[in-house]
Amino acid sequence: MKRDLLSIQDLSGGELQNIVDSAIHLKALREAGTDHALPRKCTLGMIFEKASTRTRTSFEVGMFELGGHALFMNPNDMQLGRGEEVRDTARVLSRYLSLIMIRSYLHETAVELAGYAEIPVINGLSDREHPCQILADIMTMKEEFGTTEGLRVAYIGDSNNVCNSLLLAAPLAGYEMAVASPEGFLPDDDIVTQAERTGARFDITTSPKEAVSGADVIYTDTWVSMGSETEHDARIRAFAGFTVDEALVQHAQDGAKVLHCLPAHRGEEITGPVMDGPSSLIWNQAENRLHAQKALMMMLLE
Ligand code: CP
Ligand code: NVA
Repeated sequence: MKRDLLSIQDLSGGELQNIVDSAIHLKALREAGTDHALPRKCTLGMIFEKASTRTRTSFEVGMFELGGHALFMNPNDMQLGRGEEVRDTARVLSRYLSLIMIRSYLHETAVELAGYAEIPVINGLSDREHPCQILADIMTMKEEFGTTEGLRVAYIGDSNNVCNSLLLAAPLAGYEMAVASPEGFLPDDDIVTQAERTGARFDITTSPKEAVSGADVIYTDTWVSMGSETEHDARIRAFAGFTVDEALVQHAQDGAKVLHCLPAHRGEEITGPVMDGPSSLIWNQAENRLHAQKALMMMLLE
């Protein structure tokens, strides 16, 4: 039976920990200059409906380092862009590739692709979730704190894809979570209900100070996600007061760390001094995309 990663909840808590531990091991091997290849040659197709720096580069480098090959596929250069159906594309690509990663506007596109593909499909970000990002985030927290059990994570900003996956991963990784967003940008009830069904409880507020109180980790993301560019000015107004700056970090636990999935907009959701300062784990977090996705691909290709 092939496995997909469309939602972070496609993994059990044990599988999530195994991927993170394997990623930490792969990182150590890479730092020691040791190769770790897949037992057979594999190919990864990467379909990007939207821009990417980290996801594209880390998947391509990751597959190369595992001894395989990755293909960047722009839907506009494929027959997909001329109306070939997702299900037909899925069936055909399954005859060439070992694995598909897709970054789509609609989550349903990734779900449809996975439904018709005979090979594993990975969600490389959709409007609903960003599970690969959260694997790297959990790895980064584990490296810093030794465990994610019992940590308090405060997410400040727009509660869309990244926040959704962070909420859904909370019961799997054992951290508590608080979310602060302006009215109209709070987490969707269905995501909160789905995560709470597995025992998690969240503090959801419109006050960033309240959310970061007692936090070990403060997490933020852009206020203007890909696809929301026409709302730029209205969003900048709506999110005023939600910047992660040094004053906000002071309200968290002593030694609290800051995460951002990137790309960042200094002076909007986060300030330069916080990004570049001692509480930032952001660059390790970006690097960890590579290790976490290598571990994920190894698991899906087993
Ligand atoms: N964080 C992330 O997914 O970055 P990219 O959009 O650059 O891939
Ligand atoms: N929420 C952002 C994440 C980018 C990695 C977006 O969807 O654009």
